[in-house]
Amino acid sequence: MALDYLLLKKIHLHCVGLSVALFALRLGLRLAAPERLAAWKVLRVLPHGVDTLLLSTAIAMVVVGGIDLLQSPWLLAKIGALGLYIVLGSVALKRATTRTGQAAAGLAALATVGWIVATAVGKQPWLP
Ligand code: HEM
Repeated sequence: MALDYLLLKKIHLHCVGLSVALFALRLGLRLAAPERLAAWKVLRVLPHGVDTLLLSTAIAMVVVGGIDLLQSPWLLAKIGALGLYIVLGSVALKRATTRTGQAAAGLAALATVGWIVATAVGKQPWLP
C-alpha cells in the first residue's frame, strides 16, 4: 500500500508540473499569438487529460492513504484554492476579452497555484 501511495504521489507531482507548464504556455499564446492557441488542437485536449489525471491521483491518495479530509485543513485549503485556480484560469483563457484582463487573471491563477504548492509542501493551510 505504501508503494501504491508513493507511486500515486509521483504521478500527482508530474501532473502538477505538466499542468502548470501547459497553463503558462496557453496563457503566453493567448496574450502573444491567440491564433496559434486556437490552431493547436493538442493544447485544448492535452490539459484536460493531465488535469483529470492530477485530480484522479489526488482522490486516489486520499482513499489509499485513508486520509480524513476534516482532519487535514491543508487539504481542504488546497481543494478550495483549486476551485479558485480553475475559475481564474477560465477567465484568463476564455472569458476575459481584454489583454489586461487576461494577463491579470493569468498571473493571479499562477500565484494561486504557487500557493497550492506551498501549502502542499508545508502541510499547512497558510503559507509556511
Ligand atoms: C492544482 C492542484 C494541485 C497542486 C498544484 C498540488 C500540488 C501538490 C504537491 C506539490 C504535493 C507534494 C507535497 C510534498 O512535497 O510532499 C502534493 C501532494 C499531495 N496532494 Fe496535491 N496538488 C493539487 C491538487 C490536489 C487535490 C485537489 C488534492 C486532494 C483532493 C490533493 C491531494 C494531495 C495529497 C494527498 C498529497 C500527498 C501528501 C503527502 O503524502 O505528502 N492535491 N500536491
